[in-house]
Amino acid sequence: MPVPGTPALSRRGAQLVANPPMAEYIGEHFARAHAAWHPEHDPDGYVAMCIAENKLMTDLLLPVLRPDAAPPARVLGYDAMVGSRAFRAQLATFMARTFLSRRFAPEQVAVLAGAGTVLEALFYTIADPGDGVLVPTPSYSGFWADLETRDELGIVPVPCRGEDGFRLSTDDLDAALDSADRPVAALLFTNPDNPLGRVAAADDVAAILAWADAHRLHVVFDEIYALSVFGDTPFTSAAAVRPSLGERTHIVWAFSKDFGASGLRCGVLVSENEAVVAAVDGLAYWGAVSGHTQWLLEQAITDEAWVDHYLAELRDRLGAAYRSVAAALDAAGIPHVTAEAGIFVLCDLRPHLADATWEAERALWRRILDEANVNLTPGAACRIAEPGFFRLCYAAGPTEGIVAGIARLAAVLRPTAQR
Ligand SMILES: Cc1ncc(COP(=O)(O)O)c(C=O)c1O
Repeated sequence: MPVPGTPALSRRGAQLVANPPMAEYIGEHFARAHAAWHPEHDPDGYVAMCIAENKLMTDLLLPVLRPDAAPPARVLGYDAMVGSRAFRAQLATFMARTFLSRRFAPEQVAVLAGAGTVLEALFYTIADPGDGVLVPTPSYSGFWADLETRDELGIVPVPCRGEDGFRLSTDDLDAALDSADRPVAALLFTNPDNPLGRVAAADDVAAILAWADAHRLHVVFDEIYALSVFGDTPFTSAAAVRPSLGERTHIVWAFSKDFGASGLRCGVLVSENEAVVAAVDGLAYWGAVSGHTQWLLEQAITDEAWVDHYLAELRDRLGAAYRSVAAALDAAGIPHVTAEAGIFVLCDLRPHLADATWEAERALWRRILDEANVNLTPGAACRIAEPGFFRLCYAAGPTEGIVAGIARLAAVLRPTAQR
């Protein structure tokens, strides 16, 4: 039946128009991105710190995308919708060498257009409409759109609190499972974490796997930041903890973050569950990666010397950017959670809220955007349990611009610093 005010749309089409899955801060980002900060041309320009992008590596990646090489004719034709066998075999080798610690068969690897597409397809195959998925919070905000919009699942948050250092324990998982208002099918765990920038210790990864096993739940490890680690805690993949992932453990990765290539749209699923991969294959046609993109990325990851150089630079550049930004935040008197991975730092702006409400958080976000031309991710988007935290992505642009943005942020905050 047509919905008044939304001509010619189905009920679900009208629903998408009424409640767009894209958050307000992202809409503002795209509206302002054309007038970005530039040291000479636009020193007052827009500083984007809200989008999880790594723009610090572009100079290394672009030359290996082979602008001079003619791709083989096969890239023009249909191929397996979950990725060409050659690409999946090369990915299996690359991932084993760089973060999974062991090689999976090409049939256990599938590629789709970004990690979000992988998550949507994967959860479609492992949970039914109305089922719940446990997600520790604060969290990556996009999971809600990925799991709820078309898969019709319901995220059951597992709140981790600032006063406990945002630590997650299996007691927290038990409590969320016991109080869930729907049958829970899975746990989605991000490691390294977005937005905390933390790396889970090997024991914690093992404890999560054991907990999910004990409750016979699927557990999806989102390891999209696996290679963006610059601190002391070594990254441990779920694949490194056990000799077999079994039927219910699945890993997601993508080129979007570690390779700063979110626009190429290439996400990866690793699963030993043949039926899950077959079911994902059934959906892959609607989210396949272009053959040309697969070929370009295959060339890049086949060159092991280049990969090793790139990963060493990634660690160095992220670490240097993080240290500069942490120093700028310290100088501005903005408390923040210590990070060791990823591309963000979680800032505590609670003292600057008019009151401890989500409305006050939104008002502060808006004031920072309007007065400083700086866009941060409000904590509400990350589903933080308490208002007043903001995620700052420091790799979204040149460090000099981010530091300039922090100075502008500090100027906006100064009048409320004593609250
Ligand atoms: C933890 C996490 N998972 C998934 C995604 C989505 O990545 P993609 O652009 O590859 O769909 C993001 C993007 O920010 C992310 O941070």
